[in-house]
Amino acid sequence: MRLFGAVLLVFCSVVFPAAASCDYPALFNFGDSNSDTGGLSAAFGPAPSPNGETFFGRPAGRYCDGRLIVDFIAENLGLPYVNAYLDSVGSNFSHGANFATAGSSIRRQNSSLFKSGFSPFSLDVQSWQFSQFKARSQLARQQGSVFRRLLPEEGAFSTGLYTFDIGMNDLTSSFFSNQTVEQVLAGIPQILNEFATAVKSVYGHGGRYFWIHNAGPFGCLAYVLERLPVKPEEVDPAGCAAPYNAVAQAFNEQLKATVVHLRQELPSAALTYVDVYAAKYSLISNPPPESGFTQPLVACCGHGGRYNYSPGIGCGAEQMVNGTRMVLGCSCADPSRRIIWDGVHYTEAANRWVFDQISGGAFSDPPLPLRMACTQRPPVS
Ligand SMILES: *[C@@H]1O[C@H](CO)[C@@H](O)[C@H](O)[C@H]1NC(C)=O
Ligand SMILES: *[C@@H]1O[C@H](CO)[C@@H](O)[C@H](O)[C@H]1NC(C)=O
Ligand SMILES: *[C@@H]1O[C@H](CO)[C@@H](O)[C@H](O)[C@H]1NC(C)=O
Ligand SMILES: *[C@@H]1O[C@H](CO)[C@@H](O)[C@H](O)[C@H]1NC(C)=O
Repeated sequence: MRLFGAVLLVFCSVVFPAAASCDYPALFNFGDSNSDTGGLSAAFGPAPSPNGETFFGRPAGRYCDGRLIVDFIAENLGLPYVNAYLDSVGSNFSHGANFATAGSSIRRQNSSLFKSGFSPFSLDVQSWQFSQFKARSQLARQQGSVFRRLLPEEGAFSTGLYTFDIGMNDLTSSFFSNQTVEQVLAGIPQILNEFATAVKSVYGHGGRYFWIHNAGPFGCLAYVLERLPVKPEEVDPAGCAAPYNAVAQAFNEQLKATVVHLRQELPSAALTYVDVYAAKYSLISNPPPESGFTQPLVACCGHGGRYNYSPGIGCGAEQMVNGTRMVLGCSCADPSRRIIWDGVHYTEAANRWVFDQISGGAFSDPPLPLRMACTQRPPVS
């Protein structure tokens, strides 16, 4: 078996390189605000202007001036942008659905959105939504007519790409509720156990191709730097809070191990672990001169403070001043030269840069590009 597998791999990659390019008919995404294309907006009210200004020309359910990494993934695969499952108006799910919402964590929050700001659509809920989506979309398609043009064919669920970008909010929400570094680290195995449950659930529904982003360096984000200040000696040369980034890296190491374990449990799955942390941290700590990025930690859209970020006055926030409505959370002159959009999320320009880094496979394990991530074989053991 071992010899056969090795020979087959060599055969495929050397003799038939073109055959190794995947043709995913659909994209299904699970995540948080890093990949929310309208879920939280549909449920709880729209992301305000100037979100969306760069690309969509209006707010588009994204916490960004334009496209997210998941949008660049869709473009790269030749698929339409993925609509939010929660968005019942004008959505077309024929090529996938997005279950991500801003503020989502893997674990259920013990607080409400109105108290903590974290989303009730945790990964287990997203996973139920996916399972309903799969079952009900097929029933609806049996009615024919427009439903056949709005919902995926059954085969799309087994040959589609499943992307995951979630976990950061599990860590930050724990810090915001005053847990110590030790307590947050101790919670990681439970978080990843629930992550594995969600992946296995998708696999149980026929999903085979998984592209999994790890957690970004949240110790570099203004909302963490402002709300959870660290001692000066804990600030790294890039200006980021080293203790939080160390927790993100501990999470990522265990996430990678979880993926390795899942490969053994799910023999027909192709699981790619993508080190988005490394790409984002390299951008923030050492922006390539040719990229034109300046002020790596300073938000483009916001108000006040060291990072153009104030907790109560987010991007797009308005206030009545002398009887006149004034926008306090304004956008900067040139978002294409900024990395951080609003103190929490990245700009379209940064998302594009990160996508360009990760799509070729240089940050992936195994080192396969996005368009070949369906071709990996189970590990030979
Ligand atoms: C919520 O509380 C339960 C029980 O105390 C705990 O196991 C779980 O980790 C908590 N969730 C979060 C997100 O803190
Ligand atoms: C949904 O999008 C697909 C792909 O872009 C298109 O072929 C289909 O006609 C659309 N459905 C409707 C009802 O417009
Ligand atoms: C965390 O600590 C701060 C400062 O002591 C306190 O104001 C806040 O209520 C605490 N938050 C939680 C969720 O316990
Ligand atoms: C609001 O009105 C007060 C009193 O007239 C004035 O001092 C202040 O500058 C005004 N603020 C703005 C932002 O116009």
